[in-house]
Amino acid sequence: MKILVINGPNLNMLGKRDKEIYGEKTLAEIDSLLKKQGEEVSVEVATFQSNSEGALIDFIQEQADSADGIIVNPGALTHYGFSLRDALADTKLPIIEVHLSNIYSREEWRAKSVIAPIAKGQISGLGWRGYIAALRTLVAELKGEGV
Ligand code: DQA
Repeated sequence: MKILVINGPNLNMLGKRDKEIYGEKTLAEIDSLLKKQGEEVSVEVATFQSNSEGALIDFIQEQADSADGIIVNPGALTHYGFSLRDALADTKLPIIEVHLSNIYSREEWRAKSVIAPIAKGQISGLGWRGYIAALRTLVAELKGEGV
């Protein structure tokens, strides 16, 4: 089983960027925690980050056929990234949208996600633990471990 973990624009700056909002962990630290979690349940975790929507779409198109599910934090593309949304929807894979911050308690424009309607679910505001919760949930569901 293989899960893609995709992070969009500016998430490469985690650890430096607005720590009070996004937490102290770097993306490399979060990715390594996810890979470790994956190893424990014999699941491959493939991570990718880009600041460019096209590169995110290229990665999704290249990887989708060999993947079983997707965890995505689209960064600001959450709010207007229609090409990213289409690429994710085209995979027909189960998708969990993750946000470190609570997008509903911030500026009004952040409360709208164009990705949410094509996602199985969304985790928002739980910091880096949101990614872990998403991975555990996706794997349990894919393995048919019950509701
Ligand atoms: C974010 C929330 C977005 O509004 C913002 O543009 C980000 C990060 C989050 O993880 O909280 O870059 O997706």
